[in-house]
Amino acid sequence: MKLMDIYARMKKEIAQIERELEDSIYSDQPLLRETSLHLLKAGGKRIRPVFVLLSNQFGQYDLERAKKIAVPLELIHMASLVHDDVIDDANTRRGQLTVRSKWDNRIAMYTGDYIFAKALTVVTQLPNPRIHQILSKAIVEMSIGEMEQIRWFFESNQTIRTYLLRIRRKTALLIAISCQLGAIASEAADEVSQLLYKFGYNVGMAFQIRDDILDLTGTEKQLGKPPGSDIKQGNITLPVLLALQEPGLRDDILAEIARIQEADGQTNVEPFLALIRGSRGIEVADAISARYIDKAIRALDRLPNIRAKRDLIDIAHFIGDRSY
Ligand code: IPE
Ligand code: IPE
Ligand code: MG
Ligand code: MG
Repeated sequence: MKLMDIYARMKKEIAQIERELEDSIYSDQPLLRETSLHLLKAGGKRIRPVFVLLSNQFGQYDLERAKKIAVPLELIHMASLVHDDVIDDANTRRGQLTVRSKWDNRIAMYTGDYIFAKALTVVTQLPNPRIHQILSKAIVEMSIGEMEQIRWFFESNQTIRTYLLRIRRKTALLIAISCQLGAIASEAADEVSQLLYKFGYNVGMAFQIRDDILDLTGTEKQLGKPPGSDIKQGNITLPVLLALQEPGLRDDILAEIARIQEADGQTNVEPFLALIRGSRGIEVADAISARYIDKAIRALDRLPNIRAKRDLIDIAHFIGDRSY
């Protein structure tokens, strides 16, 4: 419930960001207007903008500047989701049809490009090339992460290291820079923005591990999309890699993965999910995620004990336990 309290307290700022998000993607082109608003209106946790706003409080808090970071970060996140749903053939997201499913893949590709470009339109209003560099580097890394994911589809012989490197790129770095750029925009000391980066990075790792656990254990209602989407696509995630290490389960899991690959994902994945849920993979992955959360919180030790720090800690705990 604490998360709701934090959001309630930041209601005014968040409402401003919502307005600005909407304004920023406005287009005279009716189809682009409709497709880009579609995902925005479906909601989402807005966790990246919230991190920007909180990190901005470690220096000279300035909502106008913070907004010019928070809005592009949410836009980049959204653009990557529109593209990700093409890669994943996903039909639903945030409980709504995906752009690719409501329209088609081509329209989704341009919608994603358009939202990306709008992110740049906003962020370049800040005359700080370092901010632009950090942001573009993160987008490059995200693209590499998503490509790596495709490269390892259905590959059971990948290491946990491979998995961790991939989620670092596709998810953790964007969350890390949300915190870092929030601090940089407030002219906080370098040490402060580095510690916040470290916080965001570790929270981001836990965030994706939780996401991957939920895809195996969640319900369609919780997830806003059917469970098992990852394996249908061939994405082998941490709980699965851990379960594969159990000698008594390994062969059955490998057979399930082969069967799903054979069917191109168009098959019932319940037997696979049951195997993983019956393994220790879920709880060990949870423990690894908890370790990242601990590390994130420890990164904040040296920062002043302001309310924003306590909020970041609460959000980190929420992410460690999140079920949506
Ligand atoms: C989903 O991100 C994709 C991942 C990086 C795991 P979020 O869980 O932040 O998605 P929304 O914005 O709340 O829908
Ligand atoms: C996160 O990965 C997507 C990006 C970082 C672009 P997922 O593929 O796990 O995200 P969901 O589960 O579709 O939201
Ligand atoms: Mg996906
Ligand atoms: Mg996922």
